[in-house]
Amino acid sequence: MRERLYHVLESQQFDRELLDHLCALTTRFREVGKTTEGALAMKRRHVGKRAALYFTQVSTRTLNSFRAACQVLGMDWLEISDPNTSSEVKGESPIDSVATFASYADAIIMRSKLPGLAKQAAEYFDRERPFRPWHTAHVVNGGSGQDQHPTQALLDIYTLYRAFRERGGIEGKTIAMVGDLKRGRTVRSLAYLMRHYPDVRLIFVSPPAFQMEEDIKAFLQKHNIPFEETEDLDAAVNVADAVYMTRVQDDLDKEKGATPIFFQERHLKILGPHAIVMHPLPRREELDPACDHDPRIKIWRQERNGMWMRAAVLDYLLKENDPLEGMREVA
Ligand code: NCD
Repeated sequence: MRERLYHVLESQQFDRELLDHLCALTTRFREVGKTTEGALAMKRRHVGKRAALYFTQVSTRTLNSFRAACQVLGMDWLEISDPNTSSEVKGESPIDSVATFASYADAIIMRSKLPGLAKQAAEYFDRERPFRPWHTAHVVNGGSGQDQHPTQALLDIYTLYRAFRERGGIEGKTIAMVGDLKRGRTVRSLAYLMRHYPDVRLIFVSPPAFQMEEDIKAFLQKHNIPFEETEDLDAAVNVADAVYMTRVQDDLDKEKGATPIFFQERHLKILGPHAIVMHPLPRREELDPACDHDPRIKIWRQERNGMWMRAAVLDYLLKENDPLEGMREVA
């Protein structure tokens, strides 16, 4: 049996066994949550536990799905969204600010525009724990700069796993990642997980200015995951089992000379009958809302999956003994 993860910081930490375990737990939570007895059993799982939500970079889905996940598990939460309302304005470092949270919480979920801050915080806690044994908080990366967004990648894997469960699973599928692949942290984190699904093929569709970074391409090469780079969305939609759209990340920094690649209603006609379209959201014009009625567009299902998967992640981190305690009898 693998060593338990203490923190969730980057996609490279996951192996197939853990991905399968989290997907199974997510399905269990979704099913159990449908009955009152089941919902109550889940609410008793983490009574007295608290999460701290340190979100100094904007968030709609990640923040709210973690809040909802805490509610599902009967946990409370504390929150800092604006560093201007914390002692960081007095010159306190982000790490001290996070360490303060650790004094009150069992898990710290962090989003920051600083790449690596979650990892830095986790390393700091691990180093200091012998001196401050009450600082036991698990760190969860909720998005670190342009670097990684591992819990988004987990909910994306769950969405793919559900979509292809009767068609041989994720293995062997062709996945097109489209848009700003250079600065989008969701596609970076998802690309790392592909190594656990044999025979997956990736198509990176982007304008030249937004191509996937070399570190990811080197990782894929090292693990023999075939990928190609193109600007031709039509050709990719024609052959893909999943089309993963992303927006241009121009809130982070402006990149001149590149326009987004658009998925429009006409693409629905060339999309395979069993293929799916995903998007981490927020979207802009790159995925036309007129497509939303099509059952192959999974973007709202993906959001919902996020709440259950994040509940599974928190449960995995905080429940070290029996993963189904109190839930065996409820369905
Ligand atoms: C993404 C993010 O924050 O990286 N959003 C999300 O968490 N669902 C994608 C984005 O902002 O484009």
